[in-house]
Amino acid sequence: MNDNDALNDAQKREKIDPSEEAKSLPWFITMTIGALLMWSATYIAETVMTAAPEDGDNRAPQVLASTDCAATDKVAIDGGAVFQGKCVACHQANGQGIPGVFPPLAASEWVAGKPEVLANILLHGISGKLTVKGVAYNGQMPAFKDLLTDGEIAAVLTHIRSQWDNKSEAIDEKLITTVRDATKDRANPYNGDEELSKL
Ligand code: HEC
Repeated sequence: MNDNDALNDAQKREKIDPSEEAKSLPWFITMTIGALLMWSATYIAETVMTAAPEDGDNRAPQVLASTDCAATDKVAIDGGAVFQGKCVACHQANGQGIPGVFPPLAASEWVAGKPEVLANILLHGISGKLTVKGVAYNGQMPAFKDLLTDGEIAAVLTHIRSQWDNKSEAIDEKLITTVRDATKDRANPYNGDEELSKL
């Protein structure tokens, strides 16, 4: 018996790989597909178009003009969103700042103080010693005069004056515009307590 014969014997014992035979779809699936096709053809044939599609939105201009979205010509600026974008990194979401580095806005005498002073702080920034709630800080508060509009500054100031139990009145955009005009030649930040206390 040579090697070749042994291989042939082994091969003869193997069964042929099974393969699936072609089967027709079960009758109920064929029926369902047929029924769906008939229903959709009938549906399209029976549907009556009430308006020509090229007419589009048939509402009269007067009707559209009376809806709220057309009547509101000015959208209010979201002071909370400005705070999230421009202030939260330093003063923190809870308004507590970071001890020794960034002063708190919550219960701060500056936040509750004169609106003109706040407008100046936001427009031109601060450097040098600043005392907040009895603690001296010596950091850099950036100037926002080129980063925020008057409306955004008013909105963010109004926001911080109404958060974290702060309860001071809103600040109007007109005040920011007035202060911006009056201090337009200023190039440097305020020197902390020393200059701000004189405003
Ligand atoms: C890069 C960090 C930083 C950012 C951003 C920042 N501030 Fe300040 N802010 C400071 C620092 C530091 C001081 C204190 C300055 C000092 O020590 O001279 C301060 C002081 C203040 C003060 C006066 C002191 C107090 O705590 O009440 C107010 C008000 C204020 N910031 C509001 C804002 C508002 C509103 C924004 C966002 C538009 C903002 N700051 C963004 C760092 C920052």
